[in-house]
Amino acid sequence: MRDPDVSCRRVIVFDTTLRDGEQAPGCSMNLPEKLAVAGQLERLGVDVIEAGFAAASPGDAAAIKAVAKAVRAPAVASLARALEKDIDAAWEAVREAQRPRIHTFIATSPIHMEYKLKMGPDAVVERAASAVRYARSLCPDVEFSAEDASRSDPDFLCRVFSAAVEAGATTLNVPDTVGYAVPGEFAELVRRLRAGIRGVERAVLSVHCHNDLGLAVANSLAAIEAGAEQVECTVNGIGERAGNAALEELAMALRTRGNRLGACCGIDTTQIYPASRLVAASTGSKVQANKAIVGENAFAHEAGIHQHGILANRETYEIMTPESVGLPRNRMVLGKHSGRHAFDERVAELGLALGPEDAARIFEQFKELADKKKTVSDRDIEALVRGSARRLPESFRLERFVINSGSSITATSAVCLALRDGTREERVAVGDGPIDASFKAIDKIVGKRLVLEDFSLESVTGGKDAQGEAHVRIALDGRRYNGRGLSTDIVEASVRAYLAAINSMEAEAGGGDGTGRAS
Ligand code: KIV
Ligand code: ZN
Repeated sequence: MRDPDVSCRRVIVFDTTLRDGEQAPGCSMNLPEKLAVAGQLERLGVDVIEAGFAAASPGDAAAIKAVAKAVRAPAVASLARALEKDIDAAWEAVREAQRPRIHTFIATSPIHMEYKLKMGPDAVVERAASAVRYARSLCPDVEFSAEDASRSDPDFLCRVFSAAVEAGATTLNVPDTVGYAVPGEFAELVRRLRAGIRGVERAVLSVHCHNDLGLAVANSLAAIEAGAEQVECTVNGIGERAGNAALEELAMALRTRGNRLGACCGIDTTQIYPASRLVAASTGSKVQANKAIVGENAFAHEAGIHQHGILANRETYEIMTPESVGLPRNRMVLGKHSGRHAFDERVAELGLALGPEDAARIFEQFKELADKKKTVSDRDIEALVRGSARRLPESFRLERFVINSGSSITATSAVCLALRDGTREERVAVGDGPIDASFKAIDKIVGKRLVLEDFSLESVTGGKDAQGEAHVRIALDGRRYNGRGLSTDIVEASVRAYLAAINSMEAEAGGGDGTGRAS
């Protein structure tokens, strides 16, 4: 079902999966993952990709630069505080994009101005205007955000935004930074700003909603009805705390209820499911089963009465089709008799774009797995691709490990790693179980004081023959690195995940002294 076509007011979709999304705990992505996500965002048809916060770290700046060079159609933005050094870093990162954008912000609520910025309102207006003016001297497309706008005085907001337009801002963004607004109130704020900002017609009015009260999408839609022209969102709604407005929910609301909302957007909704799977795989942030649009159960009908209705006429209980979000209805089961063509097709449907070499290698792994398991599920394929696609240059590669463990002995592990300089090193450690012992043996080889912040292990599918997938997050000097490992042996999956996180850290540091070890 879809609202009949309206004379469409096309809302600009600004995706911040790679910035606000990636900023969320446990959602960090490495460079290959960010590039893969950016490619999928382009296929989705987003208008703007916020690729990061260049001043945050050299790694962030390099990733934004790489995205800026890789994508063609969408504008590429970097966030920057209202400081010249941040704006310089942002410009340096986006300048090679086809359509560069600098996104600068400063907080405008009384609590933020007093306790965080320690600045008075006049100084904030002055800083906002000078930041926008400076950004405009570098880049023709400048977005200005009034952080914590929904808890700011609306008259003061009109003053700050008027100064920003005067200084050359081309987009004015109204963030509900802490997810405090409710829909009617937020719509009223948008109407008030439209009426009160001097020169508002020269800029695009945007909203950016967080989900602390579960209202991010509702608030964004209310703002669109009130005249907002750009919405900021993330795939799967990932982002700080409870996340941001979910792109897939906004896009499907605009497609299904566009008539009522008086707006539409340029998203190719059939790319939603692949995008969701890719972001879940790249960040390790799982999608809850009952999540709207992309959850496992979003199109599942369990109750008998519903199934009866669906069989008689799908529209009895289905307001949108699975196909419209890129979820094919009748999937072929893949197993050991499946050929390369069927495999390639499924990989593409899952949004897991692979180069020819990777595709050939992963197809071999798929065949090996299919020999062990009767059927290979989509989750298995995603896990295989994940394990391979996140591969960075390996400073440490697993050669072998041997564990000795049981209910009445102290676990020991001997791990042998190949180093980048071609040498091998083997160490033995005892630990609280075989996984702890293996991590400690690896620590001895790597020679750094790594903090294990998070470790989880789960089976990719059900059944005794399931593959185990481990996720590890380590920290060193305040930086965090994720790694994932896959094997039908859970200790091996854990060791591989730990090494993947270490290799990600080494890749960011430029590979240390060339041996792979700490110097
Ligand atoms: O939530 C927020 O206020 C932000 C701004 C920096 C746009 O993310
Ligand atoms: Zn935000």
